[in-house]
Amino acid sequence: MDLKIALLRGDGIGPEVLAQSIKCLHAVEETFNHHFTFTDGVIGGVAMEEFGKPLPDATTSLCKASDAILFGTIGTLKYDSNPSAKVRPEQGLLQLRRELELFTNIRPVKVFPTLVNKSPLKKHVIFGTDFIIYRELTGGIYFGEKKLNKEGTVASDLCEYSEKEIDRIAHLAFKAAKNRRKKLTLVDKANVLETSRLWRKVVSKIAESYPEVQLDFLFVDNAAMQMMLNPNQFDVILTDNMFGDILSDQGSAICGSKGLLPSASIGTDHAMFEPFHGSYPQAEGKNIANPVASILSTAMMLSHFGMHEESRAVVIAVDKSMRKQVITKDLNPSSKYGTNEVGDFIAANIIDSDENLNYNYENIGLGRSTII
Ligand code: IPM
Ligand code: MN
Repeated sequence: MDLKIALLRGDGIGPEVLAQSIKCLHAVEETFNHHFTFTDGVIGGVAMEEFGKPLPDATTSLCKASDAILFGTIGTLKYDSNPSAKVRPEQGLLQLRRELELFTNIRPVKVFPTLVNKSPLKKHVIFGTDFIIYRELTGGIYFGEKKLNKEGTVASDLCEYSEKEIDRIAHLAFKAAKNRRKKLTLVDKANVLETSRLWRKVVSKIAESYPEVQLDFLFVDNAAMQMMLNPNQFDVILTDNMFGDILSDQGSAICGSKGLLPSASIGTDHAMFEPFHGSYPQAEGKNIANPVASILSTAMMLSHFGMHEESRAVVIAVDKSMRKQVITKDLNPSSKYGTNEVGDFIAANIIDSDENLNYNYENIGLGRSTII
C-alpha cells in the first residue's frame, strides 16, 4: 500500500518520540512491502517562533492532502507558565482538529500484563483492564464562545452540543462496543448540565439500533471513582470533549505510565494519530522519553488502513520490548535504555519477529548494532 503521511513533530519530546515511530514504519515498509511518503509540517511553539502562528496554512493544506497525520506533542514551558499569552501552541492542535473535523478521539486503555506492577493501583484491581474511551473532539466547552470582561475579572466558556455532533460519534462508539464486549457507558453530568441531558436523549435513541449492546449511564464524578475502584467494569466509554480529556489522563495512569498509550483522532475524511501524553519539555533532548505511545499510535494507523497483520507486528514487537525489559526509565528507573534504543529494538523486532533471533542487548544499550 502507498500512503502519504504528514509528520507534525511539534514541541518538547514530540520530535524524539515520532522519530522512533518513523523507524518502525520503515521496518513495516521493508517487511510487508509497503511504501510510505513522509512530509514534514510545523505546528505549535515551533511554528509560532518561525511563522508567528501555531498552525500555518501550509500545515493545514499538507494535512488535507495526506492520507494520515502522525502527530508528536505540543506545548512549551514558555507558554505554560504565562496564562495571559493571547496565542498558545495548543491552539494549533485545536484548530487542526476542528479544520479537519476530527470529531472522534479514540483512546484505548489497556494494561500490559508485564507491567501490572508499575501501576499505582493494586494488581488484582487493574489486571485485565481493557477499555476504550470515545471522546468527542471538536465541540463542547473547548470550542464554545469565550468571554472575558474588560476589567479581566469575569470569564466564561460556553459548552454547546448539537444532536448531530452527538449522533456521529455515538454511532462509532456503538459499533466499537458491538465488536468488543458489548457494553457502552455514557459518562456525563446529566444531573446538572443541559448538554449532558441532550447526550442521554440522543444516545438512548441510537441504542435502539444496537440491541446487542448494553447501554449504561454514569455521572462523571462517579466514573472517575469507578475507574480507580474497578476499571475492569468498562468496555467502551463515550463522553464529551472535556470529560474525555480528564478521564483519559486518569485512565493512562492506571497503566503505570502516560508514555504507553496511543490515540487516534478520526473524522469523515481525515485521520490523525498521536500519543495521549503531552510535550514533557523537561525531558526534551535527553533521550529519556518513552516512545511506546507514539509507536502504538502508528499501530492504530496501520489498523485504520486495514493493515491488521502489520499493526499486530508492531504491537508484538512493543510487547517483546516490555518482556525483555528494553524499556525507558519511567518504567524502570535503573534502565540503561533510552528513547532511541527502545525505538531501535522495537523496529528491529518488526523486521524479524522470529523469537529465536539473538539480540545483543548490550549493543542496543550502547546504541550500536542491534542484531548479532
Ligand atoms: C489532549 C491534550 C490537548 C487537549 C491539549 C494539548 C489542547 O491534553 O490531546 O488530551 O486538551 O485536548
Ligand atoms: Mn489531555
